[in-house]
Amino acid sequence: MNIVLGISGGIAAYKTPDLVRRLKERGAEVQIVMTASAEEFVTETALQAVSGRPVRSNLWDKEAEASMSHIELARWADAVLIAPATAEIMARLAGGSAPDLLTTMCLATEAPIAVAPAMNHIMWSNPAVQANRRTLEDRGVMIIGPDSGSQACGETGAGRMTEPNEIAAMVTALAQPSGGRLEGRTVVITAGPTREPIDPVRYITNRSSGKMGYAMASAAAAEGARVILISGPVTLREPRGVEVHRVETAAEMYETTHGLVRDADLFIAAAAVADYRPTTPAEQKIKKTTDSTSIDLVRSEDILASVAGLDDAPFTVGFAAETNKLREYALSKLEKKRLNMIIANRVGSDCGFDYDENAVEVFWPGGEQAFPTAAKTELARQLVSLIADRYDSLRDDGRSSVIPLEDRKKKRTQ
Ligand code: CTP
Repeated sequence: MNIVLGISGGIAAYKTPDLVRRLKERGAEVQIVMTASAEEFVTETALQAVSGRPVRSNLWDKEAEASMSHIELARWADAVLIAPATAEIMARLAGGSAPDLLTTMCLATEAPIAVAPAMNHIMWSNPAVQANRRTLEDRGVMIIGPDSGSQACGETGAGRMTEPNEIAAMVTALAQPSGGRLEGRTVVITAGPTREPIDPVRYITNRSSGKMGYAMASAAAAEGARVILISGPVTLREPRGVEVHRVETAAEMYETTHGLVRDADLFIAAAAVADYRPTTPAEQKIKKTTDSTSIDLVRSEDILASVAGLDDAPFTVGFAAETNKLREYALSKLEKKRLNMIIANRVGSDCGFDYDENAVEVFWPGGEQAFPTAAKTELARQLVSLIADRYDSLRDDGRSSVIPLEDRKKKRTQ
């Protein structure tokens, strides 16, 4: 497993010799690429000693380029990690500029990229930095941390680089996704809103951004699953290694899901499906001829309940977005729709849809667990791990309602 470790110029760079050791303990070959300002915080000599390879820093170093050019380096990497990542390097990555070896290599690589930001907490919360973070995240860059706590500048807040051991665990899993908890499993996920046409130019939709469903898809893929994402209209980048089917309406999502879910071991319904659709969309644009009007709506099929109700249903997970009585409503949906698990979150003007963070409560028959506020990407990793736990324990249990896909296929042919 080959990892390029890019080090940019922040005080947390002093932790990078330890980070290199942690990566190597997990079986990685580490090639270090430093920016000019990183050299102010950690020495090339120390890094060369721990990595066992000459450190690269200069795009114009003829000798180094002759032995492995920056393009070859970009190809060599199974993952690129930038730790610590300063506000400056994040801005360069977001803007696609490439003034040095590290940023040039990031543009030239097809390997997954992870960044571990580290900076003063006020810098981290600056809207420009957060906009760059979002851009990178939407492009599929893994953002690790930052953690909260006391900072080198003497202040306290979110901006500390995540501990080297934790970074090493996440990046080695990114570089070598095999051997995950869902290896060999197929997971079908619905995500995003649906659009229900009123006439050729108007539709009914909702505020769902698709972020949670896309984060669940990335997290399941990182655990080694084959992931099929059925997505309503969103502006997010397709997650790496995930098969994406695009749909518009609830009816298309229903058809596509049932066409694909028979081969799924797990089904996660994260889409915010429109519950009602106009009974008969107008063929021509509706003209404003009256002072008031109304639209006749008809109920959409419940995709989640219909999958959970299949004779050979996969392990089925639903979401519940509630403004009030979260526990009561979530438990009633768990039971009514006959789900294996429900993930409930509060929605309102200050949380839920279109936010990058989320806090959820998860319920399953006989158990529950609360997850405090975290970035949706991080939360998705924790939720997928819980789903894998519950899936495994149900399958190990003789009374399990979850029949392994192999056995379901055999049953169908009998
Ligand atoms: N869902 C679905 N198909 C629908 C409606 C919802 O698959 N036609 C799924 C969603 O993806 C989510 C869960 O069901 O996993 C949400 O449950 P639901 O009871 O529909 O939530 P609300 O629409 O919020 O329902 P209510 O208005 O009853 O609270």
